[in-house]
Amino acid sequence: ADGMGEVRPPSERLSYVNKTILAPMVRVGTLPMRLLALEFGADIVYTEELIDWKLLRSFRRVNDVLGTIDFVDETDGTIVFRTCALERKHVVLQIGTSDPERALKVGKLVENDVAALDINMGCPKEFSVKGGMGVALMANQEKAIQILRALVNGLKCPVTCKVRVLPDVDATVAVCRALAETGIAAIGVHGRTRDERPQHANRNHYIHAVADALNIPVIANGGSKEISCYKDISKFREESGCSSVMIARAAEWNVSIFRKEGLLPLDDVIKKYLVLSVDYDNNGSNTKYCVQNMLRELQETPRGKLFLEAQTLEQICTIWDLGSYCRERQLEFKAAGLLGRREICP
Ligand code: FNR
Repeated sequence: ADGMGEVRPPSERLSYVNKTILAPMVRVGTLPMRLLALEFGADIVYTEELIDWKLLRSFRRVNDVLGTIDFVDETDGTIVFRTCALERKHVVLQIGTSDPERALKVGKLVENDVAALDINMGCPKEFSVKGGMGVALMANQEKAIQILRALVNGLKCPVTCKVRVLPDVDATVAVCRALAETGIAAIGVHGRTRDERPQHANRNHYIHAVADALNIPVIANGGSKEISCYKDISKFREESGCSSVMIARAAEWNVSIFRKEGLLPLDDVIKKYLVLSVDYDNNGSNTKYCVQNMLRELQETPRGKLFLEAQTLEQICTIWDLGSYCRERQLEFKAAGLLGRREICP
């Protein structure tokens, strides 16, 4: 049945209570990172933000070679969004949009392949704001509400949004309350204003006030500066008064932050990440970007310099003794009919 607005049975609907979540991150939150976060203990994983018109320019293709579902750009054949059954019940697709109709079309396109849909209402980048997306929606509440209503009424999957706080705590609570009234399943709140940068203190008490006022789950975000081990996640939970938290940078640096048993050495994490990148034929330059964000100051070491020179996924893998694994899998994929992609990393 594909009836409009038919809601999934409660047992199948994603719950946002008491969850630890991989936050949406452009370029970082692609399939290998999401699967690794789940393996390490994250309950829910957000995709990177995808712009509505880019998804609308793509078509859905089942990829039997990799066991994935791909949304492929019809103009240039690039993969806009790749997902798979392993994450089906946990993955939240975040979109950037300024338009209820386009947002609903995207929702219809992906709703059977994801656990939920999220609207980005926090991105302060010029590209987003100029297009009326991201944090621009905090200033255009009417539009924000129209978008959420259209999705809540038209989709089977849960709908959420992710916002930033406003300079005033009462105004923050008021806008979050208005958004919650649309029937969304949860709301993510980053405790910084649109003009505040990551080095500013996160306003955990603002998030707390929102959590106290709303009767839907509030997901606390913005705590990474104070999160360097698993226990710090609980501390952030308590300080923000939320049962669910969403982690971005601490996971970008070492995604094993989700492990109850503690962080793994970075090399172990990178190896696991590379194996997943190979297994899901992840774009080489995307893999390089993510590993670079894990290495950070280690890029200055001799091995880091070797890494920076690597131009293909195989060359990156070779540095972590996975070169022949990468080569063999890529040959298998090619033999099975997956189009070979010659990719040079920046
Ligand atoms: C982000 N952030 C972000 N937010 C969002 O809603 N959609 C997105 O696509 C992105 N992309 C993104 C990329 C990168 C590399 C970073 C570091 C951040 C913001 C992110 O989700 C989060 O709100 C902030 O980073 C604050 O949380 P942490 O880092 O303190 O846990």
